[in-house]
Amino acid sequence: MTEAFDAVDIIIAKRDKRELTTAEIEWLIDAFTRGFVVDEQMSAFAMAVLLNGMTRSEIRDMTLAMIASGERMSFEGLGKVTTDKHSTGGVGDKITLPLAPLVASFGVAVPQLSGRGLGHTGGTLDKLESIPGWRADVSPSDMRRQLADIGAVICAAGAGLAPADKKLYALRDTTGTVEAIPLIASSIMSKKIAEGTAALVLDVKFGEGAFMKDLDRARELARTMVDLGNDAGVATTALLTDMSVPLGLTIGNALEVRESVEVLAGGGPADVVELTVALAREMLASAGLPDADPAAALADGRAMDVWRRMIAAQGGDPEAELPVAAHQHTVTAESDGILTRQQALPFGIAAWRLGAGRARQGDAVSAGAGVELHAKPGDAVTAGQPLFTLHADDESRIARALDAVSGAWEIGSVAPSPTPLIAETIR
Ligand code: URA
Repeated sequence: MTEAFDAVDIIIAKRDKRELTTAEIEWLIDAFTRGFVVDEQMSAFAMAVLLNGMTRSEIRDMTLAMIASGERMSFEGLGKVTTDKHSTGGVGDKITLPLAPLVASFGVAVPQLSGRGLGHTGGTLDKLESIPGWRADVSPSDMRRQLADIGAVICAAGAGLAPADKKLYALRDTTGTVEAIPLIASSIMSKKIAEGTAALVLDVKFGEGAFMKDLDRARELARTMVDLGNDAGVATTALLTDMSVPLGLTIGNALEVRESVEVLAGGGPADVVELTVALAREMLASAGLPDADPAAALADGRAMDVWRRMIAAQGGDPEAELPVAAHQHTVTAESDGILTRQQALPFGIAAWRLGAGRARQGDAVSAGAGVELHAKPGDAVTAGQPLFTLHADDESRIARALDAVSGAWEIGSVAPSPTPLIAETIR
């Protein structure tokens, strides 16, 4: 390739707040992917974007250039509409597990390419790998066959999708540039558009346990991603959802699978059911089924049938006992009252310290480790009643997890005013 631009000129342009051209962005991303633009230069560029932002057309160009850095999947000829969901990540967020088979039970295809967790947010693949025999790696031809036969696949994204994003994300992680909205939006949407889905529903979290701490920034991120998706021909909507308390009653891999199966059996915690049904409605509407009733498919076992077939197709035994950690430690209420506080982030960090998450890419995770909550904010509790149980294979981890949640819950006398789980829908 003829080197048409100089990386330093492009960095200076962004530093000085000039709008970049399509050709400049295409060149930068391609040259970075090939190693011609070096990490120091791309890091400086990422910092300039974090400080000065990008216009809508720059973000679109960046997304398209990252898609062009790798392969693009296509589900044409499948005979089913495809729809997918992406969450920006939260504590106890296991929604993909019941959601994919639920939506597929309506004859829609859900190709869900997922990742492993890093830090306090758990990865969908880590959760499913706690099911004995289940495999995350599915070849493109097997994926297509599973989508045609069963309708839902949750599997690992191949290395070929948006390789520029993989390289850039690793740099952002070590240079304080993860939080830039143009970079988050182009990172997420390049992978989702390259995946070839026709429709997409985004669950953009806000609150203390989320990437975006406040609602305004979450709204801006959601708006940016919805526009990017729609501009690229993917019917995209977003829900803005509260992540200030953990979602459901479990945080940790096998614990979250167990709770997901309860939801598929027509039970489970009210917040997990509410969000699963709301996201399913959006996905089904985007796939042309606005009148579908996902709550009924949870209640009558249709979604559970698809779950069993989806797990078995990837080598898993849906009837197998799930792993249980070797050690448990239960914390009880010291007084009568109402649980007034239960902060998502400290509980997520506790689950991570117990062994449910990894500190570095490639570390092993414990299938049974995590936190089981026995009460949610607003619940009345009596002295001696269990509040939560810590699960770990290695008993020495329990003390550090207790440190993490110290001060993260409170028993008071006045119930907190309820806040809606789903704050807004962005179309
Ligand atoms: N998830 C991604 O895939 N990319 C980001 O930039 C942030 C979260």
